Amino acid sequence: MTDDHESSSDHDELTDEAIRSRIDHLLAGMTPAEKAGQLTQYFYFGALPDSDAEPVGGISLSGQPAMVEAALGRGEAGSLLFVTDPAETNRLQRLAVEGSRFGIPALFGFDVIHGFRTIFPVPIAMAASWDPATIELGQSVAAREARSVGIHWTFAPMVDIARDPRWGRMIEGAGEDPYLGAAVAAAQVQGFQGRALGTPERVIAGPKHFAGYGAALGGRDYDEVNLSDSELWNVYLPPFRAAVKAGAGNIMTAYMDLNGVPATGNHWLFTEVLRGTWGFQGFVVSDAQAVHNLLTHGFAEDLSDAGVRGLTAGVDMEMAVGDPAYAHLPDAVANDRTAAAALDASVRRVLEAKLRMGLFDAPYVDEKVAREVLGDPAHREVARVAAERAAVLLRNEDGLLPLDAGTLGSIAVIGPLADSKRDTLGPWCFDFDLDETVTVLDGIRRKAGADVRVRYAPGIRPPQRTFPSMFDMFGGNAPVDPEGFDDEAELKRAVDLADAADVAVLVVGESQNMIGEAASRSSLELPGRQLELIKAVVETGTPVVLLVMNGRPLDLRWAAEHVPAILDIWYPGTQGGTAVANLVFGTVSPGGKLPFSWPRTVGQIPMIYAHTRSHEPDNQGKRYWDEESTPLFPFGHGLAYSRFDYSSLAVDRRSIGAGESLSVWAEVANVGDRAADEVVQLYVHQRSGSASRPVRELKGFRRISLEAGESTTVEFPLGPDELRYWNATVRDWVLDASTFDIWVGGDSTAELTTTIKVTRPQA
Ligand code: NOJ
Repeated sequence: MTDDHESSSDHDELTDEAIRSRIDHLLAGMTPAEKAGQLTQYFYFGALPDSDAEPVGGISLSGQPAMVEAALGRGEAGSLLFVTDPAETNRLQRLAVEGSRFGIPALFGFDVIHGFRTIFPVPIAMAASWDPATIELGQSVAAREARSVGIHWTFAPMVDIARDPRWGRMIEGAGEDPYLGAAVAAAQVQGFQGRALGTPERVIAGPKHFAGYGAALGGRDYDEVNLSDSELWNVYLPPFRAAVKAGAGNIMTAYMDLNGVPATGNHWLFTEVLRGTWGFQGFVVSDAQAVHNLLTHGFAEDLSDAGVRGLTAGVDMEMAVGDPAYAHLPDAVANDRTAAAALDASVRRVLEAKLRMGLFDAPYVDEKVAREVLGDPAHREVARVAAERAAVLLRNEDGLLPLDAGTLGSIAVIGPLADSKRDTLGPWCFDFDLDETVTVLDGIRRKAGADVRVRYAPGIRPPQRTFPSMFDMFGGNAPVDPEGFDDEAELKRAVDLADAADVAVLVVGESQNMIGEAASRSSLELPGRQLELIKAVVETGTPVVLLVMNGRPLDLRWAAEHVPAILDIWYPGTQGGTAVANLVFGTVSPGGKLPFSWPRTVGQIPMIYAHTRSHEPDNQGKRYWDEESTPLFPFGHGLAYSRFDYSSLAVDRRSIGAGESLSVWAEVANVGDRAADEVVQLYVHQRSGSASRPVRELKGFRRISLEAGESTTVEFPLGPDELRYWNATVRDWVLDASTFDIWVGGDSTAELTTTIKVTRPQA
């Protein structure tokens, strides 16, 4: 990475006034078709051979490249997505810059979700690091790589709160909690964008999907969402608010109906909340085909109506798979002054983004520099450290982990995921380098050294989806069902290997195409014969370390009782195997914490720690007669190879007036015999007031590193930002006078507690 990573924009000389007058000049000369074109973003998959030109979202892409290239040349394609080759971005950019009347460069967008060439752990894993600095650094590397090939804008971060793990896109977010979600959202925006739009080697961040997408009915992707006013403001909107505060230049709409109105046609969301209340200055893009979908919803009358309703709701740019609704805008605005004004306002926002990004001055990239950036070994190191920091140690009976290579003669590594490069990377990445991807098996082999015999058996064939994924069309994405695989013989071979080894490392979870977009599930069981494999291996009596590759909680009830060590490694990315080996052999201690409550079974969903209290609260854990209604692992849970003691919880003021702040301290000591990290968490509960408030809510956290025997004092501020909430009857933010319980500890069941009082404001 270069030193000028943080340097200020090269385009500082573009004052707001200069930008305005440049745009005025362009707008004055542009035709309605050119304006509508600036607001249209096309998928561009290049010249697909006819046989590969599979319909995307039901729309055929054959003929698409020629159509898009012609539109670029006419100045009628403002943006493209899915082009990642620097020679191609340059070629296509030239069509826009040299071919069109005003030479307005195109914006190139892409889903840079958890890395571009260097693949980082998946977003839910990065959130599990509870470490905004690691998250920001990771996205700055992703931005640098993407920008080097000519990508200006990422459709990330996804900041949707997810409380239903059946929903596959839970993996793209930060989990169930709005406070953690807001911190992770802000860190990602800063990582992608830097200090301001136009920072060298950075891209525009596009938080998505505004808003409520994670609450899909039944966890079924794209299905409708019905959220109460209280949930929307207190839970689902805060991460977006934080992303906007952090300066996000773009926001993406969501696919579904929110409380009965399609999110993409929702004037309240974009114009009232986003722009009006929050002062968002950037541009809004629709999700792919979502403006077109206003027809599908039965909301718009025809495509032209869909275009006008999307635009006037506040959606500046349409992401179109084909047949854009915004192509109808020139006709539609001819007799509609409101729509004509909206068209100009949206073009203004898009042109402003292009100017601030410096595209008019430097529309092309240097292919040689791109190669160097993509090959930068420092990026792989950042990814390795991130994977180490993301892992969550769920269970470690009798200190089975870390393993000591010096005392082991042999290790059996088992499970198809242990040796699958593609699965190690996780979903939502396309430009990875498989050759340099390190699997768990590779990592353990390298780390164990020549004196330890490491033997591998998959044990079972890779489980398959019942219905294929739309992402399977990208090469190598679906798990291969090996030919001639003898199920019983392979299971026996794996069990025999485990039996003969000193320790078995078993990798289980979901293949990467089983999670992500359009990857919702009706169960949380380990797919295929994985539970049977775990049971058979445990039965050998050999100590078992279970590594879980996942992006959502899975049903681990049996394992949590019978397997001594369980480490959640998520989909750890390019350097995943190296990081996992460092964790397993104790070069580093796990320090991640769960960003969601881990349910026992699918029937408990949704299960959140921040629930409210009602009748018979003492029976909260027995709400079902057939299963405990507590999580298997609580929100914020995660062990280390050391232990931490919490003491001396103190506040500097016992009582504050509404609007004032105080400080909370706790002493944290590493009382084990290894250096390790701990995430110190602060929770609050309001005892009485004008609404019932959750039993606990996260309102502060800090990841710290302590040497063996070391202790430190951790301080948290507590004030109006932490104590206020949206009251659905008042329809505003309120800060009630009340007694508040405070807890500080290592997870959401923390016991060290005190109280403070907030007094009524003076009349
Ligand atoms: C649809 C997804 O919902 C969105 O998150 C993504 O950015 C776009 N497709 C573009 O790939």
